[in-house]
Amino acid sequence: MIVALMIACSGPNATDSGSPSVDTGQPMEASCELGWNSWASGFFTTYCTSCHHPQSANRHGAPNGINFHTQNDALIHLDRVRVRVLNAQDMPLGGGVPLSDLQRLNEWVNCAEATP
Ligand code: HEC
Repeated sequence: MIVALMIACSGPNATDSGSPSVDTGQPMEASCELGWNSWASGFFTTYCTSCHHPQSANRHGAPNGINFHTQNDALIHLDRVRVRVLNAQDMPLGGGVPLSDLQRLNEWVNCAEATP
């Protein structure tokens, strides 16, 4: 008797696995030295809003409604920012965020999560 135990576990849904995550070596307490105006706004403008902005001339396929031009928009998608930029590191498309900015983003996300 042949028992086939073929369990498909290698689907295309592997976005979050296999990529190195950012180890900042920092404790998990929120550091709130970085504010929206003082830092995060500039980060999202530099790395995200070329595609993720309601007035973007070419979103390059970025989903409508996923925008980062206001603090509120960024906060709504905070979980996904962590997953895509810090964990999977597949946003922004094309990469290019220096580690120092990833570390600051990590701090800002931690702070934003801790201060509802
Ligand atoms: C060059 C264009 C481009 C830039 C720049 C860009 N994105 Fe995206 N983004 C996309 C495209 C295309 C998709 C849809 C495909 C996908 O999800 O991979 C997307 C989807 C997303 C999504 C929704 C999908 C999900 O996983 O929830 C989030 C959140 C996101 N991007 C975050 C960001 C952040 C944060 C930045 C800046 C650090 C950024 N993106 C920069 C093109 C871009």
